[in-house]
Order: sequence, then C-alpha cells, then structure tokens
Amino acid sequence: MATEEKSSDLEVQLEQMLGIEKFDPPPGFRENALWSDPKIYEQAAADPEAWWLRQATELLDWETEPTQGLNDSNPPFYKWFEDGRLNASANCLDRHVEAGRGDRVAYHWRGEEGEELDVTYADLHRDVQRFANALKDLGVEKGDVVGIYLPMIPEVAVSMLACARIGAIHNVVFGGFSAESVAERMDFSEAKALITVDGARRKGKTAPIKTTVDEHMGSHHALKTIVVIRKTGIECPMSEGRDVFYDEVLAAAPPECPAEPMEAEHPLFILYTSGSTAKPKGILHTTGGYMAGVTATHRYVFDLKPETDVYWCAADVGWVTGHSYIVYGPLSNGATSVMWEGAPDHPHQGIWWELIERYKATILYAAPTAIRTFIKWGADIPEKFDLSSLRLLGSVGEPINPKAWLWYHKVIGGERCPIVDTWWQTETGAIMITPLPGITETKPGSATTPFPGVAASVVGESDGEPISEGQGLLVLEKPWPSMLRGLYKEDERFIETYFSRFGKERYLVGDAARVDSDGYLWVIGRIDDVVNVSGHRLSTAEVESAIVAHEKVAEAAVIGQADEDTGQAICAFVTLRGGTEPSDELIEGIRGTVAERIGKFARPKRIIWADELPKTRSGKIMRRLLRDIAEGRALGDVTTLRDPEVMKELEAKIAEEGDED
Ligand code: PRX
Repeated sequence: MATEEKSSDLEVQLEQMLGIEKFDPPPGFRENALWSDPKIYEQAAADPEAWWLRQATELLDWETEPTQGLNDSNPPFYKWFEDGRLNASANCLDRHVEAGRGDRVAYHWRGEEGEELDVTYADLHRDVQRFANALKDLGVEKGDVVGIYLPMIPEVAVSMLACARIGAIHNVVFGGFSAESVAERMDFSEAKALITVDGARRKGKTAPIKTTVDEHMGSHHALKTIVVIRKTGIECPMSEGRDVFYDEVLAAAPPECPAEPMEAEHPLFILYTSGSTAKPKGILHTTGGYMAGVTATHRYVFDLKPETDVYWCAADVGWVTGHSYIVYGPLSNGATSVMWEGAPDHPHQGIWWELIERYKATILYAAPTAIRTFIKWGADIPEKFDLSSLRLLGSVGEPINPKAWLWYHKVIGGERCPIVDTWWQTETGAIMITPLPGITETKPGSATTPFPGVAASVVGESDGEPISEGQGLLVLEKPWPSMLRGLYKEDERFIETYFSRFGKERYLVGDAARVDSDGYLWVIGRIDDVVNVSGHRLSTAEVESAIVAHEKVAEAAVIGQADEDTGQAICAFVTLRGGTEPSDELIEGIRGTVAERIGKFARPKRIIWADELPKTRSGKIMRRLLRDIAEGRALGDVTTLRDPEVMKELEAKIAEEGDED
C-alpha cells in the first residue's frame, strides 16, 4: 500500500480510537505485574508514613536502618528517615556487585557516531571509587558543591556517583545551557569544582566546551578545580594549578574508596530550575528520602524486572528526569538501561527505533514533544524496525494530547503496551501522579491518580477548598520522602513559592489541573510565568532579561504560546531603542543573545515588534493580554491598562504579520 494511503488509514483508526474512554491493562500484563492488587492504595493511605518507611527499608540498603518515617515538627522543613544512614552510590553499585551482579550491563551506551560501549555495574563501581578518591585528592570534601556540565556519556553517571560516594553535593547543568548559565549556577551554589569535557558532539559537529567555559569562568573565585574529560580530543586550554584531565587523575587514584555512610538528610544534589523570576531556583534533594522515592517509583511505575528488562529513558541527564530515571532509580534497582548520546534525527530519523531493535528495549520513557515530532516524521519510519520487545511505554514532562497518546499506543506500542503518563517536577524528585501499569485503567491525556502514599487534590483558586469535579489548582496534601528540602540558601523564597498561599502543610505545585468524575487528574499547565518548551522549563523573566541584554533592545515581554510541536513556544514582544529599525538581522541577533546567555533551546520562536508594551497604571506588564493576542483570542479586560491604545497598535502589528505569512 502506498505510504500516503497507509497514513490516512492510521489517521482514521486514531480518530476512531479517540472515542475509547478507558484502556485496561493489556491482556496478560496484570498477571505478571509486580503490583496488581488495588489494595496497595488503601494500605498506603491508611498510614503513609509507615508505608514509606517500609518501602525505604525494603528497597534500600542502609548502614543504619531508620526507625522513623517523617519528622514534621518544623513545617515546611520536613525530614524523612532522619535516624537512618546510607550511601546513594553504595545502593546504586556496591550492593549489586556484592550480590554477584557486577557483570550485568548498567548502560548500553551508544555514541553519536555509532560507537557502542557496554558499561557494567563492576565498571561503574571501579571508576566511581577511583574518581571519588581523585576528587578527595583535589580537595573536595563532604558538603562541598561540585558542578557537572557533561553530555550524555557514561562519565556523567560516574561523576554523580563519585560525588555521592564522598558526600559532595552535585550540581548538574544541562549540556544545552550556555557556558554563561553554567558560570551563574556555579556562582550561586559556590561550587568548588567543575567536571566538564573538552568538546561535545551534536549531529556530527563538535562544540568546544572547555574553551567556552573558560571564557566565562574568569571571575569565578570559589572554583578551585576543573576536571576535563577528553572525549573528542579537540585542543583545549588548561590552566596550571586549576585544571586536570579526568583520565590522568583516575589512573593516579587508589582503586578503593569505601562508600561513606551519610545521614539520611545529607544533601545529595542541587538542580537549578526556572521559577517566576529571572534567578533560577536551586532545588535541594537529600539522600534517604530521594533514594526511597526514586527506587520505589522506578520499580513499580515501570514494573521493572531487572533481570529481563532493558529500560530506556530518553531524557537528558541534565534534567531531573535524567537524575531520577537514568541514574539513581535504575541503578538502585539494578536495571540495564540504554544511554543514547545524540539527537533523535542523527544519523537518521529512525535512530530511536534502531536502538530499541538493537538492544531489545522493553521499556521506553519519553516526552510528548518527541512523540509529536515522530508523528510529524511519519509512522512508516518506526514501522521499518522491530519494536516487538517493547512491553511498557512512559510519558513525562508535559501534558500528552490524546491523539499523541493513541499514536504512541498504536504505532510504537503495537497496542500491547500500557502507557504510564507520569506527572511530577524537579521539586517532587520522583513521580507523583501516574497509572500503575498492572492496576490502573488509563485515559489518554490523564496522568490518572497519585502514586500510593501520595495525596494530591485540585483546590479552588481563592478558597483552597478541594474540588470533587472541575478545574482548580493542583496541590500535594502531605509531605512525601523525595520532596525538595528547600531552595539552596534561600529559605524565605522556598516558603514564599510553595507554602505561602495555602499554608505550610500543603505544597503548591504551580500547575492548574482538572479532576473528573472518576477522580482522574488532568494536568493543564503552569499557573506562574513558567513556560514549558519541549518539556524544558523556562521562566519568562529569565528569557526577558536575556533579550534586553541585546544592545538595541529597550524592553521585552515574553509569553509561552501554545505550539503544536513543542507544547509551548517562546513568543517575545520587543520594544527597540529609539532610532532602531526592525530587521531580520536584529531577530537573529536577539535569538543569538538568548542562545549565548541561556542556551539555544530558549531562543524565541516568534518576535513581535511593539512600539509599547501593555502596562497597568503601576507599570506591570499585562502578559495575559499578550497571550490572548498572540494566540488570536478575543482580548480580555483592558480597562486597567494605562493606555488601552497600545493593544490596538499591537493587534494591527499581528494582522500585518499574518498578511506576510
Ligand atoms: O507543568 C508540569 C509539567 O512539567 C512541570 C515540571 O517541570 P520540571 O520540573 O522541569 O520537571 C519535568 C520532568 C518531571 C510540571 O509542573 N509536567 C511534567 N510532567 C507532566 C507535566 N504536565 C502534564 N503531564 C505530565 N505528565
């Protein structure tokens, strides 16, 4: 059959499937699932604290077992498993090696150019010990912050676990962020060392990472050491007394470094994420609760059978999804994972499916934005590969539209794989709202219900009263083990952001959601000035401050605009300095400034020139009106504007833009 006919057939089938409200776990899945009895929800709800304590002691190896679940004596500064002691790297490595599982592959790593490397648990254990010793030798001590700015290479896991082994707090910065963002995050966290690479490969090109980092790191005084991994072999400057090569320090380090037991509440990592202001928030996670949360959710949400499954989380390790579901969760559970260095379309648009066929992956965890891209490229691409090894699919990072859910189910999952649409955040550390694949009937587009031991509600915006059916704000009603313990060195901001609107006992998520008559949750999107572009979280203020750094820009207002491909896209309204004429070069110049200051993924997709921005009498930009106008909706109330004429001019501009298209 011709490709065109086939794709219109698929279209018709998907349209028909839109009428199906609920999907049962596929035949046979429930029988073999780790959890198949819905009573688990009641058991957890009866005493969540005791239930989590049981999970923590059953699933983790402790040097000193905790006797206590939650300490809520000083809300919102909650503590979990306080009298326990453990080491995260020992849970990820030593216990597997000691149990004779050292030869198991931890990562089937595939490089951009097709190189393959199977990294076993024993390999990781060996390198982590050596690198931990090297870090100590370089002066890194328990409690110090260590930055990590690396591509998707096995050394990223080694670096994180080496920090965890000695109690250093890692601060990973996504490789797509610019060196300037790295420098800023190192400054905020007073990082003592940074681990990076000579160069990084992307779609056949090599970017000089160390050289660029050096250009921005000049004024960074706290940074005593930069460890450079030689990955591409490109020339890079090394500063005497500060910079060392990873392979050299590894070779010189003693081979044994026993894991140091940490108090359960010892910080494990900081991860910067975007908030409502331009300054990113340093989300702080600690050891015991985080490890309990990620180990339990990774095991039960993905129904993981470590002996037989090959699991692939196609995120980047620089985001929380990578921390929890590429590194800590899978390694703690002794899983075998796929790690892919590259982009989804290099060397060809079927590379993901080639990898699934090659490694016989059984579980795939990906973002809706990737799925929408694959839909655009056409079902005939995955259809060329053998995807029959897959038995479970996951989605994360943004709402998945029912059509994409169904395509994923049919084309990738062959209608035999349950889909777990998992809702969570950097702050929650682990999955919070999700189906359990052997229990939950799924509805396309809904993350369904909270994981056992988690309590979520949708509440009224003004009164905070729980809503039994309808739309409101999503809140988490009870503390959970993997919750953030604070914002790094910003206690006031922590309380203000999450625990001021509805009190210190209820966590304000920052998302709007709907609850339906079955109690299923449908997450709608952010209520703050955070934009979700392809599952990447960005603050409008952060992008605005990057845009105004351009010498010709006087003022900018940024909004997230609904986008078919990326979920939301950055749209910027820009006012130029007097005498400057808009031009295509200027658009490229502004996009370039944003790439340099934040990263390429934050570049505005659309720039609208504005003579003036709509402001209230007190001078606040009314983004609501900008969103209306950008998305072609009727304008809301304009009476509070200082000058309502501004909107008329903007409407005319947008009409002109439409004519040009
Ligand atoms: O708005 C929600 C959206 O992503 C936000 C969290 O972003 P981040 O901290 O970067 O973590 C992303 C990966 C966990 C949330 O506040 N979000 C995440 N997962 C979903 C989602 N929205 C709808 N459905 C999801 N499954």
